[in-house]
Amino acid sequence: MSSRPRKDLLQIEDLSRAEIEEVLAAAQPFKDLFKRSVKKVPTLQGKTVLSLFYEPSTRTSSSFEVAAKRLSADVTSLDVGSSSVTKGETVLDTVDTLQAMRADYIIIRHKQAGIPNLVARHTRASVINAGDGFHAHPTQALLDASTLVDVWGSANFAGKRVLIVGDILHSRVARSTSRVVQVLGGSVGVLGPGTLVPPGRPPEITKFRDWGEAFDWKPDVVYLLRVQFERQGEQFFPSPGEYHTVYGLTSERLSRVASEGGWVMHPGPINRGVELTDAVMSYERCLVNRQVENGIATRMAVLYWLKPEIESPA
Ligand code: CP
Repeated sequence: MSSRPRKDLLQIEDLSRAEIEEVLAAAQPFKDLFKRSVKKVPTLQGKTVLSLFYEPSTRTSSSFEVAAKRLSADVTSLDVGSSSVTKGETVLDTVDTLQAMRADYIIIRHKQAGIPNLVARHTRASVINAGDGFHAHPTQALLDASTLVDVWGSANFAGKRVLIVGDILHSRVARSTSRVVQVLGGSVGVLGPGTLVPPGRPPEITKFRDWGEAFDWKPDVVYLLRVQFERQGEQFFPSPGEYHTVYGLTSERLSRVASEGGWVMHPGPINRGVELTDAVMSYERCLVNRQVENGIATRMAVLYWLKPEIESPA
């Protein structure tokens, strides 16, 4: 066990390797639980989980809701679009209001980096960052690691290589997932348009100019990132079609991945015909649906593992 219980999950950089391994180990019994007819446990009975998504989400918001309900917590998901946020209420005022209802856990996604950290300092509830701007998406990274534990049978990733392809610049997933892979001993390489790969990446991350170089590195996993058109204030490449031709996982490149027994991952939502071709989704080593499935068990593990500073009223 870690020496001190952790209140919040804000970014992977806060976690030691032992803590990451604890969460991954805690997810395992929840994965086993899903094979049973009754999938619910009383772990968080009497606890309240508030979900605040200031940005759109399908996978993260729904899997947190399912995770909390399977732990028997009471869950309230604020519909930000029809809340007093539209009347100008600030994030902290909204949190104060909801805090008066004695929430034990606050799950928050916001387009501005650092908002979950601000909220965490403001409340005694456990705060979980569900994605903030370009900064961090720690539960995505943990569910990715959990999926790799399934296929490799171990949380020791030494000798394993993960190639991350695409829009590294705008990607909180790239930041968080590359960190978790490295902490667990794996190596990370990146491939993408020069305009979307930051020049200052740490030296331990290998950069490739094209797929040929990247394949020569012999990646065990090709991790495709979504092109985040909504975050790109300017044009970073000529067109989606051009992106697909140069950086997409085309049928030809998929054949090369398959010939080496490589795994394919993507955090979703996918842009078909941009990051990947349709055939990728039916490739036997495509882990995209497994990632979504593991999102529930991993988020159950995170809720179970964090320790709020408050207790709900009896
Ligand atoms: N991977 C991910 O964060 O997906 P959503 O935006 O649907 O939550």
